Amino acid sequence: MAKYKVVSMPGDGIGNQVLPEAVRVLDAVEFDAEYVHADIGWECWRREGNALPERTIDLLAQHKLGLFGAITSKPKKEADAELSPELRGKGYTYYSPIVTMRQRFNLDVCVRPCIGFPGNPLNFIRKKPGGGFEEPQVNVVVFRQNTEGLYGGVEWTNPPEQVRAAFATHPKWKPFANVKGEDLAVSLRIITRPAAERIARAAFEWARKFGYKSVTICEKPNVLRETSGLMEDAAKAVAKDYPGIPLWSTNIDAQTMWLTKNPEDYGCIVASNLFGDVISDAFAGLVGGLGFAASGNIGRDVAVFEPTHGSAPKYAELDPPIVNPIAMILSAAMLLDHVGETEKASRVRAAIAEVVREGKVRTYDMMRIAGGSKSISQGAATTNQMTDAILAKLQSVRVPAMVGTGR
Ligand code: NAI
Ligand code: MG
Repeated sequence: MAKYKVVSMPGDGIGNQVLPEAVRVLDAVEFDAEYVHADIGWECWRREGNALPERTIDLLAQHKLGLFGAITSKPKKEADAELSPELRGKGYTYYSPIVTMRQRFNLDVCVRPCIGFPGNPLNFIRKKPGGGFEEPQVNVVVFRQNTEGLYGGVEWTNPPEQVRAAFATHPKWKPFANVKGEDLAVSLRIITRPAAERIARAAFEWARKFGYKSVTICEKPNVLRETSGLMEDAAKAVAKDYPGIPLWSTNIDAQTMWLTKNPEDYGCIVASNLFGDVISDAFAGLVGGLGFAASGNIGRDVAVFEPTHGSAPKYAELDPPIVNPIAMILSAAMLLDHVGETEKASRVRAAIAEVVREGKVRTYDMMRIAGGSKSISQGAATTNQMTDAILAKLQSVRVPAMVGTGR
């Protein structure tokens, strides 16, 4: 029997193209796993009225480890229209399966490494004052609180009277007190100390394990005094347990400005849900964008690894597939790290680094050309060829002495 069982959820569109490529790589490093297929996404919604069926939840609860491709989601009107005719009008409501999965398993720690591979034509470059350019080595890991903050889901348009009455107890509510209900929308930003401490601790643990020199709490405590204030307090409390690793504090607005000024100065970054969502996409943009952006959603019990990209429907039908499998493969490498197979994870990353450095095999995004059926005749590698190149390098790469996330 295999040592690990991994729930494989390809989902929709290109999720079905990239996830099998990641499994090829996991097999090549002899990860001792069996893969159990589970349904998720738009087709489940259409056929069953539920994008995350209970049987998928059961499999995740049982096996604790998931690899996820991507799903398609569409606005309410289209969701209702595409539901299979016999289910229509029966009270089915579309919910994002990703959000549901995070809530069901309390996958509260979202880890998003944004690590530049030298030689990637998509890497951020900067002009030097004296002419020429430089390519900073970006190696940032964003820790995004995944279940609270502004994405907690407690929101209203036209809040009920009791809610308005509660708001009215706050002196700052005055200017809004007379706004008509239908003209008023409120989303609540909720931060709890245990979750704030858990995300901060996850960042410090990562910094210690993989040798990052600092942890930055990226919030806005000068304005969001209560919620960002609590995030910062929690980070400071946790920092006391890691005396060798300094805690820096930045404001989210300034951090996005510093993104292009000195991104190489940052190590692990902690942020609440919305800010973490924004800053992780922003950093990912410096190191290759969606074809390279991997993530892990980690709870106490269950962990699910996925590329940040979606189902890219416009490329889903292309044969052969052209999308970049690296984000999915890097997500699989995160799964390896998570279960302690750090040597295998490092080998995968080293093989990818070598393919990127060599520059002979590049998917369309890496060539900066338009995606489509023509991109292959313009010299772009197919999805499959990119994986083949990585597999070939796995035979010969040497793993850097410092195992782990890219350092
Ligand atoms: P998307 O991420 O699917 O694609 C945006 C564009 O990025 C693509 O058209 C393509 O040009 C590029 N791209 C994405 N992945 C790539 C890859 N691996 N290699 C090369 N290029 C890649 O986002 P979009 O178009 O906004 O959404 C499409 C569908 O995906 C929607 O239904 C959306 O709701 C869903 N979605 C799902 C996510 C998930 O499953 N985690 C995340 C984002 C969107
Ligand atoms: Mg996002």
